Amino acid sequence: LKIVRTIAKLQLDRTKSIAFVPTMGAFHEGHLALMRRAREAAEIVVVSLFVNPTQFVAGEDYDRYPRNEERDFELARKIPVDVMFAPSVAEMYAGEETVIHVKGVSERWEGEHRPGHFDGVATVVAKLFNIVRPNIAVFGLKDFQQAVVIDRMVRDLNIPLALLFEETVREQDGLAMSSRNAYLSPEQRRLAPMLHEELEQLSKSKSAGDKELSESKERLAKAGFAVDYLALVDGATLEPARKLEKGNRFIVAARLGATRLIDNLGF
Ligand code: PAF
Repeated sequence: LKIVRTIAKLQLDRTKSIAFVPTMGAFHEGHLALMRRAREAAEIVVVSLFVNPTQFVAGEDYDRYPRNEERDFELARKIPVDVMFAPSVAEMYAGEETVIHVKGVSERWEGEHRPGHFDGVATVVAKLFNIVRPNIAVFGLKDFQQAVVIDRMVRDLNIPLALLFEETVREQDGLAMSSRNAYLSPEQRRLAPMLHEELEQLSKSKSAGDKELSESKERLAKAGFAVDYLALVDGATLEPARKLEKGNRFIVAARLGATRLIDNLGF
């Protein structure tokens, strides 16, 4: 594993195919699944490890976001990843004035609850794409709206790469793996899988209209979740949808204490 800290030192053999996995570190099985997919897809695997400050909204967990580079490097080495790009904030940002804003799909749901978040994501991902210049980039579907935003940006800006999306990796009890699960108290951790259970239950019901969604939100609230949103959406436009059919997706965001969890389920 070659660890590269600066853009200038990121010299890749461009006669070979390159698959790229952007991450913010604190690796779990979900990240490793993306790296394995990248390993299958191309000759060189590059992973970035950068906790991007511009995608954290004021008051969020940027300062306490889990960081453990040495452990991450060890896990990446086992895949094996070829190159780990782990720049400093100063290396990535020098007072830029350019921001990428993906209209429409970034403005709903997470966009409403975390204003500016997707501008931070789209801008850093575009920068990373230009720095690494991969043939393929791999993202997880756990952040479903992020996947839609990036897909849209890549198409709108004619960024010359192929995107691969991998399904969410879950704990045995169904909880979607996330670096933020580490914040949960034992009691919250016990409750957390209910988010996925509700989506499963909704996807098995005959219809998912306002009544079913409200009932599900009520059950979550009663158990102790503060629900930001729970909706059935069109998987391409993220507009609310009515039908339980392929292409549509349930999306949910809810807080347990100070920890915000998101999840989604397709058909
Ligand atoms: O999904 C993430 O970990 C981040 O949002 C990403 C794509 C690495 C951008 O910072």
